[in-house]
Amino acid sequence: MRSLTGPPHLGAGPFASPPPAALCRDDRPVAGSAVAGGGPTTSGLRRGICDHGGVNEIPRGTLQEQTFYEQVGGEETFRRLVHRFYQGVAEDTLLRPMYPEEDLGPAEERLVLFLMQYWGGPRTYSDQRGHPRLRMRHAPFTVHRAAHDAWLRHMRDAVDELDLAPEHEQQLWKYLTYAAASMVNTPG
Ligand code: HEM
Repeated sequence: MRSLTGPPHLGAGPFASPPPAALCRDDRPVAGSAVAGGGPTTSGLRRGICDHGGVNEIPRGTLQEQTFYEQVGGEETFRRLVHRFYQGVAEDTLLRPMYPEEDLGPAEERLVLFLMQYWGGPRTYSDQRGHPRLRMRHAPFTVHRAAHDAWLRHMRDAVDELDLAPEHEQQLWKYLTYAAASMVNTPG
């Protein structure tokens, strides 16, 4: 079974791996599911708590699980997000000079692959780039408060345009703000 956990790109912590969601057999969300947050089980039977009747034994293979990546629309959604974000960066007089390459396309691809992997999609980022180690990879750049604010501003615009369900939007935004704060590497 495919791993549902993302890389601990910022070190250990609650944001190292987004929780998978579980659905009942009739596709209704499972409130307080035994597998939510704990990852998939490996036993032949899973114990699910559905809102239509107590605890059920659900034969393996019939329980549908979706990663956050799948829930929000997969690759297309992440590509839209990051493309919109880089449109903002391209016009930003503070951020744009920080990006060493003249063409922002490769940087856009790295960020999209990273986010897809983090949220439970394909592991192409690590196949191509190795362990994320994002703080280390940002060390060559001076990420000060103003850069942090500008980065988040463009990301906010990009998230807004996705028009996600509120719980998805909040989960994504909470992560992005946490990760952006972690990337600041200089006072002031
Ligand atoms: C806080 C403000 C931030 C600034 C100013 C910033 C700036 C940069 C710059 C200048 C690069 C180099 C471009 C490249 O070679 O790809 C970069 C790379 C990257 N950034 Fe950020 N970044 C910020 C926050 C973040 C956050 C919050 C994340 C993740 C959620 C992130 C993920 C990445 C990734 C995945 C790469 C490519 C790493 C690689 O594989 O080389 N950045 N960033």
